[in-house]
Amino acid sequence: MNIPSVTPVEINEYTKKFNNLANSKLENLFQLAVKRDDILPCVQRDAACLLQLLIRLTKPARILELGTGIGVSTIIMASAMDKSGQIITIEFNEKFASEAKQNFTRFQVQDRILLHIGDAVDIVPQLSLGFDLIFQDSGKQTYPATLDQLVQLLKPGGLLICDDTLFPAMDLPDRNRTSQAVIDRFNRAVKEHPLLESYILPIGHGVTVARKQDTNEV
Ligand SMILES: C[S@@+](CC[C@H](N)C(=O)[O-])C[C@H]1O[C@@H](n2cnc3c(N)ncnc32)[C@H](O)[C@@H]1O
Repeated sequence: MNIPSVTPVEINEYTKKFNNLANSKLENLFQLAVKRDDILPCVQRDAACLLQLLIRLTKPARILELGTGIGVSTIIMASAMDKSGQIITIEFNEKFASEAKQNFTRFQVQDRILLHIGDAVDIVPQLSLGFDLIFQDSGKQTYPATLDQLVQLLKPGGLLICDDTLFPAMDLPDRNRTSQAVIDRFNRAVKEHPLLESYILPIGHGVTVARKQDTNEV
């Protein structure tokens, strides 16, 4: 699926020289994944680097990911977090999930990752509270459907990071109109959420970084 990025191609080409993943093995996995057209697109390079940096800065012990794909973003996060941390990731496509599992083993991060195969809308309500960071990168309809539950699952001060949130501002083919409308509705809900402070960063396909209010804050 060929979706343009929010940043002009020249900027992406320039930042590519500077924004690299933590090591050559990860770079290799990423570069092979972006060339494939039999899977849904993985997180864009600049967004992946931001995710990596945020994890190193905030040191989350528990991460939840919606939309594993073949595990590229999961492995990027697992590699940036402490070895004692845990990631729960959800994917409903069994073929992608099976490839993700193999990739987790190949990168020796399988002990840190629990993969749930099923619809995130059904699985999210069954999870126990207390995530430090949640990465939303699943189907667009899932974004508004799970927002309130994800905020509830986050610890106070925790981060909700959502990919593709500039879809409504992008020049996309007609088949993406529904997704654009859904994400626009989602962005408004995030902005108006009483417990979230949020920013949309114009990198990749747009990345929302939202922080859940701490209990001590007014
Ligand atoms: C954009 S891809 C994920 C890419 C991955 N996060 C990465 O960057 O490597 C979105 C994935 O979400 C999965 N998905 C979409 N809706 C879902 C849902 N409701 N529950 C679980 N998985 C879902 C799709 O099958 C697809 O693999």
